Amino acid sequence: MKILAIIGSPRGMQGNTGRLLQEVLAGVEATGAEMEILSLKTLSIQPCAACDVCHKTGVCNIKDDYEFVKEKLLACDGFLLASPNYIFSVTAQMKALFDRCNGLIHCMGLEGKYAAMVETSGGGEDEEVLAYMSRFVNTLGANTVGCVGTAIAGVRTFPNEEKLFADARRLGLNLCQSIKNKRVYAGQDIFREEFKLRMSGLVDRMQKYWPFEREYWANKRTR
Ligand SMILES: Cc1cc2nc3c(=O)[nH]c(=O)nc-3n(C[C@H](O)[C@H](O)[C@H](O)COP(=O)(O)O)c2cc1C
Repeated sequence: MKILAIIGSPRGMQGNTGRLLQEVLAGVEATGAEMEILSLKTLSIQPCAACDVCHKTGVCNIKDDYEFVKEKLLACDGFLLASPNYIFSVTAQMKALFDRCNGLIHCMGLEGKYAAMVETSGGGEDEEVLAYMSRFVNTLGANTVGCVGTAIAGVRTFPNEEKLFADARRLGLNLCQSIKNKRVYAGQDIFREEFKLRMSGLVDRMQKYWPFEREYWANKRTR
């Protein structure tokens, strides 16, 4: 089983979010799963140029590390998204990745995979940021198994740390168990079915311009 962790903090694994992610990964490690961490700090993911080439060809036209990250996402069984709260949302590094996944979202290309989210903040709105990240995961077609988020108490320290870290490790474990047991998340299935109609409808309307996505959905419907 392959688990990919993507961290969007400019501090990489050395910051607060990296500290909390470490605990989630300890839970993953305990299951014997294979883990890989990608820090967006060390990768180049430029903002989306809205050129629509991904919809036409299935490949992004910007020559940076996005396709590398996309291939890693396609190859994993489950993934973790970790970001600090930057003005009620994720960091610009993480948002750039989300936007670049637009083609993948049109195809709901991560259907069948599972994900969990990790977030830290200076003082709050953790739920808001985690909900945003969860919705992104669902639009990719993947299931969210849960999340962990908290305000900090200081540098790489948190309130109620013992409980928080236990929750974080349990989340890592849960991610792997959900993959192993192919767990069903009924509420997310409803969202996904509605979103599928929306995306396949969009691609239908744009089929003249977006041949890659037209073929992708034609194949997906017959699978
Ligand atoms: C540009 C910037 C924006 C931030 N915006 C918020 C915010 O809106 N709300 C909040 O509670 N904390 C905010 N913070 C604080 C970070 O979320 C917090 O320190 C977080 O734990 C940093 O994680 P890191 O060490 O992994 O980068 C912000 C920090 C920065 C640098």
